[in-house]
Amino acid sequence: MGVMLNDTYVQLAFGSLIMLVSYVLLRRVKYLKLKEPPLVPYKYPIIGHTNDFYKDNKNFIKKCHAEYGEIFSLFVFGKVITFVGKELSCEILKNHKDFSFIEASRENFPFENFLNRPNEFTDTFPKMVQINLSGQIKLYTERVQRQLIKSIDEMIGNGKVLEPPLKFFQFIIAKPIAATMVGEELSDDKELVNSFANVTTDFIPFLSISPVLNFIHPYLHQQVMIIVFKYLNNPFKMHRELIKKKITPVIEKRLREMKESGDNYVSPIDILQRYTELLHKDYTVDIDVVTDYMIISIFASVHTTSNFLTFCLHELVNNPQFLKEILEEQEQLYKSNEKSYYSTEQIARMEKLDSFIKETLRVNVNNVALQHKTLSSYFTFSNGYQVPKGRLVNICSGEIHSDKELQGQYADEFNAFRYLKKNSPATRADKVS
Ligand code: HEM
Repeated sequence: MGVMLNDTYVQLAFGSLIMLVSYVLLRRVKYLKLKEPPLVPYKYPIIGHTNDFYKDNKNFIKKCHAEYGEIFSLFVFGKVITFVGKELSCEILKNHKDFSFIEASRENFPFENFLNRPNEFTDTFPKMVQINLSGQIKLYTERVQRQLIKSIDEMIGNGKVLEPPLKFFQFIIAKPIAATMVGEELSDDKELVNSFANVTTDFIPFLSISPVLNFIHPYLHQQVMIIVFKYLNNPFKMHRELIKKKITPVIEKRLREMKESGDNYVSPIDILQRYTELLHKDYTVDIDVVTDYMIISIFASVHTTSNFLTFCLHELVNNPQFLKEILEEQEQLYKSNEKSYYSTEQIARMEKLDSFIKETLRVNVNNVALQHKTLSSYFTFSNGYQVPKGRLVNICSGEIHSDKELQGQYADEFNAFRYLKKNSPATRADKVS
């Protein structure tokens, strides 16, 4: 009887909560009276477009685009999501105050919650990378080459098979990334490099839970992920502990030396040092906080790079006609170089390789990508359509990358030299005027 009563109360409370949320949302939409993009009609309530969206994404998006134009909305996993094409995508990428990539990522992958940190925790990270990594790339060029050679020597040669390719690239790239993030000395530590290589790919499948609870409310799916993460023993925790154990003596030694040497201290060049200097108070620092920043750095850099290098290998194997010219360009550089390592200027001279890399990025993009969340109370696109605060907006990247007007007549083909001698910056759209 007690159990039944409790169940009834829970059902009642739950029902009231849903009604309250719906009421508030409906009132908001009514109050704002926005001119929203067309919502593509769907057959089944609750399910909406979820099936079509996941079954054959490319053709479904193409069909919606043909019927509803540049901007439209779909109802997927309980959320209305807006999709934009080539005319409006720049308005999302250029308006940082109105749209946020990080906020949208948080919705699907609440990383700060996993780390038990406030939402603003990751906010300093993009600036840190911009100033101390992209802004000072020359300081890292030589060490990255030195560490790459070491890991290539370890992994390639004597009949070793590069299989599976993604795992192989994770190991190749983990050493130079570790050298950049925590310094060259630590990048020789095999256990640490192993954690750098694997923490992301060991962790993501652990949390690959279908978001069916989003049909009720997105909050529920997020909470399930957080509970699974916190209360089950997962590989992430093991990697984090190892990373913390390895960086602790290095941080402590550096802080001691900083204190002893005062103004004469010669600051090591790596991201670990930058965070230590930023966060320490009277030469003591919360090592858990520094560890979590290192984890964020690994998540941003290792899987993205190794995944992309795997695409490069795939394209090279599938398009062998370009191999000779790409190799010749590298051989020329090799013959003309008198030093052991190449400068950033010399690396930039490999224009054919640069074009090949951009073409690989072009053809391997996800069909819909770069999801952003609307931050302002509403946003009005230049064609008059409006989206409310909180709306997730996706870019139809697949269509943009294969658009004949933008990419030329042979947009469907892989042309490694498509970008040769062309002004084609690979920075974010907001950096390109
Ligand atoms: C091939 C490798 C990589 C790919 C394909 C990639 C892709 C991306 C994409 C698509 C974004 C979102 C951009 C936007 O907001 O419009 C992004 C953001 C970011 N990436 Fe990467 N990334 C790669 C490597 C790296 C590396 C090595 C780092 C270094 C730690 C890094 C750090 C960041 C940071 C800090 C942001 C946030 C930028 C901001 O909000 O201003 N990424 N990346």
